[in-house]
Amino acid sequence: MDNWIEETLQKAVDKFRRSVVLARKQDVIPYKSEGGRWVGAPFDGNSWWTGGFWPGLMWQLYRFSGEEAFREEALRVERLLVAELLRFEWLNHDVGFMYLLSCGAHHRLTGDEEARRHTLHAANLLAGRFNPAGFIRAWNGDRPGWAIIDCMMNLSLLYWASAQTGDPRFEAIARLHADTALREFVREDGSCHHIVIFDPRTGKALEKPGGQGYCAGSSWTRGQAWGLYGFALSYEGTGDERYLDTACRIADYFKAHIRADGLVDCDFCQPQEPQRIDNIASACAASGMLKLARLVGDGRGDAYREAALRMLRALDALCADWTNQSPGILQKCTAAYHDDGAGRHVNILYGDYFFVEALLRLRGADAQLWQA
Ligand code: GLY
Repeated sequence: MDNWIEETLQKAVDKFRRSVVLARKQDVIPYKSEGGRWVGAPFDGNSWWTGGFWPGLMWQLYRFSGEEAFREEALRVERLLVAELLRFEWLNHDVGFMYLLSCGAHHRLTGDEEARRHTLHAANLLAGRFNPAGFIRAWNGDRPGWAIIDCMMNLSLLYWASAQTGDPRFEAIARLHADTALREFVREDGSCHHIVIFDPRTGKALEKPGGQGYCAGSSWTRGQAWGLYGFALSYEGTGDERYLDTACRIADYFKAHIRADGLVDCDFCQPQEPQRIDNIASACAASGMLKLARLVGDGRGDAYREAALRMLRALDALCADWTNQSPGILQKCTAAYHDDGAGRHVNILYGDYFFVEALLRLRGADAQLWQA
Protein backbone atom coordinates (compact mmCIF):
# COMPACT_ATOMS: atom_id res chain seq x y z
CA MET A 1 0.00 0.00 0.00
CA ASP A 2 2.81 2.44 0.90
CA ASN A 3 4.30 1.91 -2.55
CA TRP A 4 0.99 2.71 -4.16
CA ILE A 5 0.73 6.00 -2.24
CA GLU A 6 4.29 7.03 -3.09
CA GLU A 7 4.03 6.00 -6.72
CA THR A 8 0.69 7.72 -7.22
CA LEU A 9 1.94 10.94 -5.64
CA GLN A 10 5.03 10.82 -7.80
CA LYS A 11 2.84 10.40 -10.89
CA ALA A 12 0.84 13.46 -9.75
CA VAL A 13 4.05 15.48 -9.43
CA ASP A 14 5.12 14.42 -12.93
CA LYS A 15 1.73 15.26 -14.40
CA PHE A 16 1.43 18.69 -12.79
CA ARG A 17 5.03 19.59 -13.61
CA ARG A 18 3.86 19.55 -17.25
CA SER A 19 0.46 21.12 -16.52
CA VAL A 20 1.93 24.12 -14.72
CA VAL A 21 3.75 25.11 -17.90
CA LEU A 22 0.46 24.91 -19.80
CA ALA A 23 -1.46 26.96 -17.20
CA ARG A 24 1.17 29.71 -17.40
CA LYS A 25 1.18 29.67 -21.16
CA GLN A 26 -2.61 29.85 -21.27
CA ASP A 27 -2.54 32.52 -18.53
CA VAL A 28 -5.46 30.87 -16.73
CA ILE A 29 -6.50 29.70 -13.26
CA PRO A 30 -7.41 26.09 -14.11
CA TYR A 31 -11.00 25.15 -13.35
CA LYS A 32 -11.36 22.09 -15.56
CA SER A 33 -9.60 20.58 -18.55
CA GLU A 34 -10.96 19.63 -21.93
CA GLY A 35 -9.28 18.56 -25.17
CA GLY A 36 -5.83 18.60 -23.57
CA ARG A 37 -6.10 22.21 -22.39
CA TRP A 38 -7.04 24.00 -19.20
CA VAL A 39 -10.33 25.87 -19.10
CA GLY A 40 -10.78 28.81 -16.69
CA ALA A 41 -13.79 29.75 -14.56
CA PRO A 42 -17.20 29.38 -16.23
CA PHE A 43 -18.51 32.57 -14.52
CA ASP A 44 -17.26 35.58 -12.53
CA GLY A 45 -13.68 35.57 -13.85
CA ASN A 46 -11.02 35.24 -11.17
CA SER A 47 -13.66 35.70 -8.44
CA TRP A 48 -15.11 32.25 -9.28
CA TRP A 49 -15.20 30.19 -6.09
CA THR A 50 -12.74 27.49 -7.18
CA GLY A 51 -9.72 29.79 -7.74
CA GLY A 52 -7.94 28.64 -4.56
CA PHE A 53 -7.70 24.96 -5.47
CA TRP A 54 -4.95 25.38 -8.05
CA PRO A 55 -2.61 27.33 -5.74
CA GLY A 56 -3.59 24.96 -2.91
CA LEU A 57 -2.55 22.01 -5.06
CA MET A 58 0.68 23.80 -5.96
CA TRP A 59 1.53 24.32 -2.28
CA GLN A 60 0.77 20.68 -1.45
CA LEU A 61 2.99 19.48 -4.32
CA TYR A 62 5.72 21.98 -3.44
CA ARG A 63 5.80 20.70 0.12
CA PHE A 64 5.94 17.10 -1.10
CA SER A 65 8.49 17.56 -3.91
CA GLY A 66 10.38 20.75 -3.02
CA GLU A 67 10.13 21.79 -6.69
CA GLU A 68 10.33 25.54 -7.07
CA ALA A 69 8.03 25.67 -10.13
CA PHE A 70 5.05 24.73 -7.92
CA ARG A 71 5.74 27.55 -5.45
CA GLU A 72 6.13 30.08 -8.27
CA GLU A 73 2.86 29.00 -9.84
CA ALA A 74 1.04 29.30 -6.50
CA LEU A 75 2.33 32.87 -6.19
CA ARG A 76 1.33 33.76 -9.77
CA VAL A 77 -2.28 32.83 -9.04
CA GLU A 78 -2.24 34.35 -5.54
CA ARG A 79 -1.57 37.75 -7.12
CA LEU A 80 -4.65 37.34 -9.31
CA LEU A 81 -6.80 36.36 -6.34
CA VAL A 82 -5.57 39.22 -4.17
CA ALA A 83 -6.71 41.65 -6.90
CA GLU A 84 -10.22 40.18 -6.45
CA LEU A 85 -10.25 41.19 -2.77
CA LEU A 86 -10.37 44.80 -3.93
CA ARG A 87 -12.99 44.22 -6.61
CA PHE A 88 -14.99 42.55 -3.82
CA GLU A 89 -18.51 42.63 -5.29
CA TRP A 90 -18.29 39.18 -6.92
CA LEU A 91 -16.88 37.44 -3.88
CA ASN A 92 -19.22 35.43 -1.69
CA HIS A 93 -18.98 32.98 1.24
CA ASP A 94 -16.48 30.92 -0.77
CA VAL A 95 -13.64 33.24 0.26
CA GLY A 96 -12.77 30.33 2.59
CA PHE A 97 -12.02 27.99 -0.29
CA MET A 98 -10.32 30.77 -2.24
CA TYR A 99 -8.03 32.37 0.32
CA LEU A 100 -7.25 29.61 2.83
CA LEU A 101 -5.73 27.56 0.01
CA SER A 102 -3.85 30.47 -1.61
CA CYS A 103 -2.75 33.28 0.74
CA GLY A 104 -3.45 31.15 3.84
CA ALA A 105 -1.27 28.33 2.54
CA HIS A 106 1.45 30.79 1.59
CA HIS A 107 1.50 32.22 5.12
CA ARG A 108 1.26 28.81 6.77
CA LEU A 109 4.17 27.36 4.82
CA THR A 110 6.49 30.37 4.64
CA GLY A 111 5.37 32.81 7.36
CA ASP A 112 4.78 35.55 4.77
CA GLU A 113 3.14 38.49 6.58
CA GLU A 114 1.44 40.04 3.59
CA ALA A 115 -0.21 36.73 2.79
CA ARG A 116 -1.45 36.58 6.41
CA ARG A 117 -2.99 40.06 6.08
CA HIS A 118 -4.78 39.09 2.86
CA THR A 119 -6.14 35.94 4.53
CA LEU A 120 -7.41 38.02 7.46
CA HIS A 121 -9.00 40.41 4.99
CA ALA A 122 -10.89 37.45 3.49
CA ALA A 123 -11.94 36.28 6.98
CA ASN A 124 -13.41 39.73 7.65
CA LEU A 125 -15.38 39.54 4.40
CA LEU A 126 -16.76 36.15 5.44
CA ALA A 127 -17.62 37.36 8.96
CA GLY A 128 -19.39 40.34 7.36
CA ARG A 129 -21.75 37.94 5.57
CA PHE A 130 -23.13 36.68 8.89
CA ASN A 131 -26.80 37.43 9.40
CA PRO A 132 -27.60 37.70 13.15
CA ALA A 133 -30.76 35.72 12.38
CA GLY A 134 -28.32 32.79 12.57
CA PHE A 135 -26.56 31.96 9.30
CA ILE A 136 -23.86 33.03 6.87
CA ARG A 137 -25.29 34.27 3.62
CA ALA A 138 -24.03 32.14 0.72
CA TRP A 139 -24.52 33.97 -2.55
CA ASN A 140 -25.07 37.54 -3.78
CA GLY A 141 -27.92 39.14 -5.71
CA ASP A 142 -31.50 38.74 -4.68
CA ARG A 143 -30.92 35.83 -2.28
CA PRO A 144 -30.35 37.31 1.19
CA GLY A 145 -31.74 34.25 3.00
CA TRP A 146 -29.85 31.49 1.16
CA ALA A 147 -27.34 29.32 2.99
CA ILE A 148 -25.67 26.16 1.66
CA ILE A 149 -23.99 23.11 3.19
CA ASP A 150 -20.75 23.89 1.29
CA CYS A 151 -20.21 26.79 3.73
CA MET A 152 -19.18 24.27 6.40
CA MET A 153 -15.79 24.14 4.66
CA ASN A 154 -15.47 27.94 4.61
CA LEU A 155 -15.88 28.13 8.41
CA SER A 156 -12.25 26.99 8.67
CA LEU A 157 -11.20 30.49 7.65
CA LEU A 158 -13.02 31.89 10.70
CA TYR A 159 -11.45 29.39 13.13
CA TRP A 160 -8.07 30.26 11.63
CA ALA A 161 -8.72 34.02 12.06
CA SER A 162 -9.62 33.64 15.75
CA ALA A 163 -6.52 31.53 16.35
CA GLN A 164 -4.37 34.13 14.58
CA THR A 165 -5.78 37.24 16.22
CA GLY A 166 -6.97 36.00 19.61
CA ASP A 167 -10.33 37.63 18.76
CA PRO A 168 -13.15 35.15 19.50
CA ARG A 169 -15.71 36.88 17.25
CA PHE A 170 -14.72 34.90 14.15
CA GLU A 171 -15.10 31.56 15.92
CA ALA A 172 -18.37 32.69 17.53
CA ILE A 173 -19.83 33.42 14.09
CA ALA A 174 -18.63 30.06 12.78
CA ARG A 175 -20.28 28.25 15.70
CA LEU A 176 -23.58 30.07 15.27
CA HIS A 177 -23.65 29.08 11.61
CA ALA A 178 -22.59 25.49 12.36
CA ASP A 179 -25.37 25.18 14.97
CA THR A 180 -27.94 26.36 12.43
CA ALA A 181 -26.52 23.97 9.81
CA LEU A 182 -26.68 21.09 12.26
CA ARG A 183 -30.33 21.82 12.97
CA GLU A 184 -31.58 22.69 9.47
CA PHE A 185 -29.37 20.87 6.95
CA VAL A 186 -28.62 17.49 8.52
CA ARG A 187 -31.43 14.96 8.44
CA GLU A 188 -32.13 12.16 10.90
CA ASP A 189 -30.42 9.50 8.72
CA GLY A 190 -27.20 11.55 8.38
CA SER A 191 -27.93 12.87 4.89
CA CYS A 192 -27.91 16.61 4.16
CA HIS A 193 -29.81 19.21 2.21
CA HIS A 194 -27.79 21.34 -0.16
CA ILE A 195 -29.67 24.65 0.26
CA VAL A 196 -31.82 26.10 3.01
CA ILE A 197 -33.63 29.39 2.36
CA PHE A 198 -34.17 31.33 5.58
CA ASP A 199 -36.31 34.35 6.27
CA PRO A 200 -33.47 36.89 6.45
CA ARG A 201 -35.25 38.83 9.22
CA THR A 202 -36.35 36.02 11.54
CA GLY A 203 -34.03 33.14 10.61
CA LYS A 204 -37.01 30.81 10.10
CA ALA A 205 -36.27 28.06 7.56
CA LEU A 206 -38.71 28.59 4.67
CA GLU A 207 -37.67 26.18 1.93
CA LYS A 208 -35.12 23.43 1.18
CA PRO A 209 -34.71 23.21 -2.62
CA GLY A 210 -32.69 20.66 -4.55
CA GLY A 211 -29.73 22.84 -5.57
CA GLN A 212 -26.98 20.94 -7.42
CA GLY A 213 -28.48 17.58 -6.53
CA TYR A 214 -31.21 15.53 -8.23
CA CYS A 215 -34.24 17.10 -6.50
CA ALA A 216 -35.50 18.66 -3.28
CA GLY A 217 -35.00 16.18 -0.42
CA SER A 218 -32.33 14.19 -2.31
CA SER A 219 -28.68 13.73 -1.27
CA TRP A 220 -26.24 15.52 -3.59
CA THR A 221 -23.06 13.62 -2.91
CA ARG A 222 -20.65 16.55 -2.98
CA GLY A 223 -22.91 18.29 -0.46
CA GLN A 224 -22.62 15.22 1.79
CA ALA A 225 -18.83 15.42 1.41
CA TRP A 226 -18.77 19.13 2.31
CA GLY A 227 -20.92 18.33 5.34
CA LEU A 228 -18.86 15.44 6.69
CA TYR A 229 -15.52 17.17 6.13
CA GLY A 230 -16.83 20.57 7.31
CA PHE A 231 -18.32 19.28 10.58
CA ALA A 232 -15.07 17.41 11.26
CA LEU A 233 -13.22 20.71 10.81
CA SER A 234 -15.67 22.48 13.11
CA TYR A 235 -14.96 19.85 15.76
CA GLU A 236 -11.26 20.35 15.25
CA GLY A 237 -11.70 24.15 15.53
CA THR A 238 -13.88 24.11 18.66
CA GLY A 239 -13.71 20.74 20.45
CA ASP A 240 -17.54 20.62 20.42
CA GLU A 241 -18.49 16.93 20.41
CA ARG A 242 -21.83 17.60 18.69
CA TYR A 243 -19.94 18.53 15.54
CA LEU A 244 -17.91 15.33 15.71
CA ASP A 245 -21.06 13.22 16.13
CA THR A 246 -22.61 15.01 13.15
CA ALA A 247 -19.54 14.46 10.97
CA CYS A 248 -19.67 10.74 11.87
CA ARG A 249 -23.38 10.48 11.10
CA ILE A 250 -22.88 12.02 7.65
CA ALA A 251 -19.80 9.86 7.03
CA ASP A 252 -21.72 6.70 8.03
CA TYR A 253 -24.50 7.61 5.62
CA PHE A 254 -21.97 8.35 2.87
CA LYS A 255 -19.99 5.15 3.18
CA ALA A 256 -23.15 3.03 3.19
CA HIS A 257 -23.94 4.43 -0.29
CA ILE A 258 -20.58 4.04 -2.09
CA ARG A 259 -21.10 2.08 -5.31
CA ALA A 260 -19.92 -1.52 -5.60
CA ASP A 261 -17.04 -0.39 -7.87
CA GLY A 262 -15.87 2.13 -5.24
CA LEU A 263 -17.03 5.22 -7.17
CA VAL A 264 -19.73 7.63 -6.04
CA ASP A 265 -22.85 8.83 -7.87
CA CYS A 266 -23.61 12.50 -8.32
CA ASP A 267 -26.61 12.12 -6.00
CA PHE A 268 -27.32 9.17 -3.71
CA CYS A 269 -31.02 9.44 -4.64
CA GLN A 270 -30.61 9.71 -8.42
CA PRO A 271 -32.33 7.23 -10.76
CA GLN A 272 -30.21 4.33 -12.08
CA GLU A 273 -30.19 5.84 -15.58
CA PRO A 274 -28.59 8.01 -16.76
CA GLN A 275 -25.40 7.12 -14.89
CA ARG A 276 -23.92 10.21 -13.27
CA ILE A 277 -20.67 9.92 -11.36
CA ASP A 278 -19.00 12.68 -9.36
CA ASN A 279 -15.36 11.94 -8.62
CA ILE A 280 -14.93 15.25 -6.81
CA ALA A 281 -17.41 13.99 -4.20
CA SER A 282 -15.47 10.80 -3.53
CA ALA A 283 -12.06 12.51 -3.46
CA CYS A 284 -13.33 15.15 -1.04
CA ALA A 285 -15.18 12.61 1.12
CA ALA A 286 -12.08 10.39 1.21
CA SER A 287 -9.94 13.24 2.47
CA GLY A 288 -12.61 14.22 5.00
CA MET A 289 -12.93 10.61 6.21
CA LEU A 290 -9.17 10.39 6.70
CA LYS A 291 -9.35 13.53 8.83
CA LEU A 292 -12.29 12.03 10.74
CA ALA A 293 -10.46 8.74 11.25
CA ARG A 294 -7.67 10.61 12.98
CA LEU A 295 -10.12 12.62 15.13
CA VAL A 296 -12.09 9.58 16.36
CA GLY A 297 -9.00 7.37 16.71
CA ASP A 298 -8.50 3.66 16.04
CA GLY A 299 -11.53 1.39 16.22
CA ARG A 300 -14.28 3.63 14.86
CA GLY A 301 -11.72 5.42 12.67
CA ASP A 302 -10.68 2.18 10.93
CA ALA A 303 -13.94 2.01 9.01
CA TYR A 304 -13.52 5.58 7.72
CA ARG A 305 -9.95 4.89 6.70
CA GLU A 306 -10.98 1.73 4.86
CA ALA A 307 -13.81 3.53 3.04
CA ALA A 308 -11.44 6.35 2.07
CA LEU A 309 -8.87 3.91 0.72
CA ARG A 310 -11.51 2.05 -1.26
CA MET A 311 -12.64 5.26 -2.95
CA LEU A 312 -9.09 6.46 -3.66
CA ARG A 313 -8.09 3.11 -5.14
CA ALA A 314 -11.18 3.14 -7.36
CA LEU A 315 -10.45 6.68 -8.53
CA ASP A 316 -6.95 5.65 -9.51
CA ALA A 317 -7.96 2.36 -11.15
CA LEU A 318 -11.08 3.50 -13.00
CA CYS A 319 -10.93 7.24 -13.61
CA ALA A 320 -7.36 8.56 -13.48
CA ASP A 321 -5.70 9.75 -16.68
CA TRP A 322 -1.92 9.49 -16.21
CA THR A 323 -1.14 10.13 -19.87
CA ASN A 324 -0.19 13.44 -21.48
CA GLN A 325 -3.67 13.68 -23.04
CA SER A 326 -5.25 15.43 -20.08
CA PRO A 327 -3.54 18.11 -17.98
CA GLY A 328 -5.54 16.93 -14.93
CA ILE A 329 -5.99 13.51 -13.32
CA LEU A 330 -9.57 12.57 -12.44
CA GLN A 331 -12.11 12.20 -15.21
CA LYS A 332 -15.87 11.87 -14.60
CA CYS A 333 -16.22 14.86 -12.33
CA THR A 334 -19.66 16.48 -12.37
CA ALA A 335 -20.41 20.04 -11.27
CA ALA A 336 -24.17 19.62 -10.83
CA TYR A 337 -26.75 16.92 -11.56
CA HIS A 338 -28.92 18.93 -13.95
CA ASP A 339 -26.64 21.65 -15.31
CA ASP A 340 -23.78 20.53 -17.54
CA GLY A 341 -22.54 24.10 -18.21
CA ALA A 342 -19.82 23.86 -15.54
CA GLY A 343 -18.81 20.31 -16.52
CA ARG A 344 -20.23 16.78 -16.57
CA HIS A 345 -18.03 13.68 -16.60
CA VAL A 346 -14.89 15.71 -17.27
CA ASN A 347 -11.73 16.52 -15.36
CA ILE A 348 -12.52 19.30 -12.83
CA LEU A 349 -9.49 20.54 -10.99
CA TYR A 350 -10.72 20.55 -7.42
CA GLY A 351 -11.31 16.80 -7.64
CA ASP A 352 -7.57 16.50 -8.27
CA TYR A 353 -6.89 18.83 -5.33
CA PHE A 354 -8.74 16.56 -2.90
CA PHE A 355 -7.30 13.38 -4.45
CA VAL A 356 -3.75 14.63 -3.86
CA GLU A 357 -4.62 16.02 -0.42
CA ALA A 358 -6.06 12.63 0.58
CA LEU A 359 -2.97 10.76 -0.63
CA LEU A 360 -0.73 13.14 1.30
CA ARG A 361 -2.89 12.65 4.37
CA LEU A 362 -2.53 8.86 4.03
CA ARG A 363 1.22 9.39 3.91
CA GLY A 364 1.08 11.69 6.97
CA ALA A 365 2.37 14.61 4.88
CA ASP A 366 -0.71 16.79 4.27
CA ALA A 367 0.02 20.52 4.65
CA GLN A 368 -3.17 20.84 6.78
CA LEU A 369 -4.37 23.86 4.88
CA TRP A 370 -7.85 23.81 6.49
CA GLN A 371 -6.66 23.76 10.04
CA ALA A 372 -6.96 26.66 12.51
N1 GLY B 1 -19.46 24.78 -3.77
C1 GLY B 1 -20.09 24.56 -5.00
C2 GLY B 1 -19.87 23.19 -5.51
O1 GLY B 1 -19.48 22.30 -4.78
O2 GLY B 1 -20.10 23.00 -6.69
